[in-house]
This record gives sequence, C-alpha cells and structure tokens, in this order.
Amino acid sequence: MTVSVVCPGSFDPITMGHLDVIERASERFDEVVVAVVANPGKQALFELEERLDLVTQVTAGLGSVRVAAFEGLLVDFCRSQSIGVICKGLRGVADFEYEQQMAQMNLHIGNVETVFVATRPDLSYLSSSLVKEVARLGGDITGTVPDVVATALRARLASDSG
Ligand code: PNS
Repeated sequence: MTVSVVCPGSFDPITMGHLDVIERASERFDEVVVAVVANPGKQALFELEERLDLVTQVTAGLGSVRVAAFEGLLVDFCRSQSIGVICKGLRGVADFEYEQQMAQMNLHIGNVETVFVATRPDLSYLSSSLVKEVARLGGDITGTVPDVVATALRARLASDSG
C-alpha cells in the first residue's frame, strides 16, 4: 500500500520549519504533495507564482515531493489528488487548538485524516510572519529560511520600500 500525504500552507514564504516537516514527511510517506493555497487569509507578500517557485526550488532535492497550488477547500484538493491524509507541523500548544479544530473539521467534511509532526525544537520559534517582520526591520534572517528565500525576501522588501 502506498501512502501519500498533502502538506498544505500559505508558504509566504517557506521557512526552514516548513522545509523540515516536508523533508521528514518525504522520508516516511511514499509521496508528498506540497499544496500552496492560492488565496491565503491575510494579504500575502509573495504572489502565488513566486511562492510556488520558491517551494519548488527548495524541495527540488527531495524524493517524491511535488508542488501544486490549490483554491477553495483543502479537502476538495485532497479528493482531487485521491489523497486522504494531511500532514502538518505542530510547533507547540499555541498551534494545537486551531490545528486540532481544522483537523476535526477536515475529517468531518471530507473524511480526510490529519497527522501531526512535532517540529524540531530548534525551529519551533519560526513563522513566516516573524521572519518577514525581522527582515522588514533590518534583522538577520540567516538560518530561518533557505538562502534563495532570504534573497527573494530582501529583494521584495527593497523593491516595496523603494
Ligand atoms: O500556512 P497556513 O497559513 O497556516 O496554512 C493554512 C491553510 C492554507 C492550511 C488553511 O488555511 C487551509 O486549509 N485553507 C484552505 C481553506 C479550507 O479548507 N478551510 C477550511 C479548513 S478546516
């Protein structure tokens, strides 16, 4: 039996924490589909095509990982891929309540199961929002995002402020 999972997110932009979860999922499941939401709840810094491109670049070395965009309900995307399992990272208790709610809703509306991966402790403080804030305020984001993402982030912030 092959087991495929969907790793969904906004990836605005992808961080080392996301990448660690995707990598660990790819070592344990037969296929990982990284699903990049087209319209995140909040205004995205990067366009969908840019987020897809960065995710594709940084996951290129991982076996059995592909990247796709989705719109609408995640469970509908899972059904379209014939995948019944979502895989997400849990950084700590702050993530748990909302993630549990979404997992239960996705089970209810789509019979899609969610498995959680505990993020590496040394990456559990990371979030795309904080990385963007630190970068915007001139802080050092080395090690928080892959190099190609850091370069894209600095370029975007420079062009936005210029
Ligand atoms: O990286 P994020 O922003 O935490 O990702 C959240 C995401 C995209 C996984 C979540 O918002 C989502 O699943 N959106 C799709 C719409 C949907 O299915 N909503 C119902 C969730 S129970």
